Amino acid sequence: MAVAYVSRSPKKVLHKVVLLPIFIFLGLSSLSCAARQPPASRQKLQVLKHLKRLNKTPVKSIQSPDGDMIDCVHISHQPAFDHPFLKDHKIQMRPNYHPEGLYDENRVSNERENTIKQLWHVSGTCPEDTIPIRRTKEDDVLRASSVKRYGKKKHTSVTPITPNSADPDVDNESGHQHAIAYVEGDKYYGAKATMNVWEPKIQQPNEFSLSQIWILGGSFGEDLNSIEAGWQVSPDLYGDNNTRLFTYWTSDAYQATGCYNLLCSGFIQINNNIAMGASISPVSAFRNSQYDISILIWKDQKEGNWWMQLGNGYVLGYWPSFLFSYLADSASMIEWGGEVVNSEPDGQHTSTQMGSGRFPEEGFGKASYFRNIQVVDKENQLRSPKDIGTFTEQANCYDVQTGSNSDWGHYFYYGGPGRNPNCP
Ligand SMILES: *[C@@H]1O[C@H](CO)[C@@H](O)[C@H](O)[C@H]1NC(C)=O
Ligand SMILES: *[C@@H]1O[C@H](CO)[C@@H](O)[C@H](O)[C@H]1NC(C)=O
Repeated sequence: MAVAYVSRSPKKVLHKVVLLPIFIFLGLSSLSCAARQPPASRQKLQVLKHLKRLNKTPVKSIQSPDGDMIDCVHISHQPAFDHPFLKDHKIQMRPNYHPEGLYDENRVSNERENTIKQLWHVSGTCPEDTIPIRRTKEDDVLRASSVKRYGKKKHTSVTPITPNSADPDVDNESGHQHAIAYVEGDKYYGAKATMNVWEPKIQQPNEFSLSQIWILGGSFGEDLNSIEAGWQVSPDLYGDNNTRLFTYWTSDAYQATGCYNLLCSGFIQINNNIAMGASISPVSAFRNSQYDISILIWKDQKEGNWWMQLGNGYVLGYWPSFLFSYLADSASMIEWGGEVVNSEPDGQHTSTQMGSGRFPEEGFGKASYFRNIQVVDKENQLRSPKDIGTFTEQANCYDVQTGSNSDWGHYFYYGGPGRNPNCP
């Protein structure tokens, strides 16, 4: 994980899984006749099958201090190749075009200063021609509402915010709250940002807090295309409160297609250093050291693929163009910022934090920021975004404030504590 140390002084849904004790004692042999088993053990068999699909046979496995097992899987055995359209796919080992000029391996690899490792790096590295994949555990799947929903956002509740929505209540009802900056009304071929990394507190395991870039295509209807990347704390998805790097994609508004990380086939990873879904460490501390990560997502306008790069040194891989409808051409909207789930525990607003848990006006070292936000234009150039809008459902709970200066380009502070006297 590329995390730059900033040395400047201040200038999903309730998943209830009832695990009957009998499951624990069920041997595999008794599961083979699943059709005759009560529904509960059929579910167990379903879970095991799903795990077998997701967890590819590793060349090597690395135990991370946070409890994760990182499997180094041969690059040609990654989940992407379960996709029927990718059966004969020839992996592209590097992008043709890069928004900062033609892709130049030497230039890129020399800029790995100020990078820190993902937590699992202390225990080893993945060999060349493999990619690191966070192993899915049985518990991970059991925390989901169903095997099918594991690794997916709940579509009824996670439609990204629509600043111009005709019905502004939609977001409030779904319980998802945002504090974002956005641009729309043009054709976008990518976006970049450097985002401050924190570990916001989550009140309930079924809630999450994330900070990310959205690359959006189409309307906010049933066929919304979205590519998303950033960091998140999601107890239901990962079983802990760690801040983790994540990606997400969907081509039908979070319904049937897409998933987090590599939890379905689609994204093709080429990098052997960075594991999606793995913990980011260290994270920023209040009035103390600040850490941030840079994410660039851009379209290779020749091949059509959407690429992702972390920091200056890590090209992670790409989403093939055929996964999408609108995004097969270009994006129509870019959003940057935070999202939390407010499940209104006890009928009150959640105290799940967004960003650092502090409001924007507190500024550097206290509030979380996105800086140097940029978009990629038709000429494959990184540009300052024009006419940046902001949106938040309830500014008294989570807010956003934009600004610009020569150091940080266009930036914004965002976030908040959730429940407080002005956000009951
Ligand atoms: C996550 O944090 C919550 C409080 O914010 C705590 O109750 C819970 O035990 C933590 N979970 C883990 C797995 O550490
Ligand atoms: C969301 O609900 C709150 C509280 O009911 C209200 O003050 C706010 O205006 C709503 N926001 C939107 C965008 O509807």
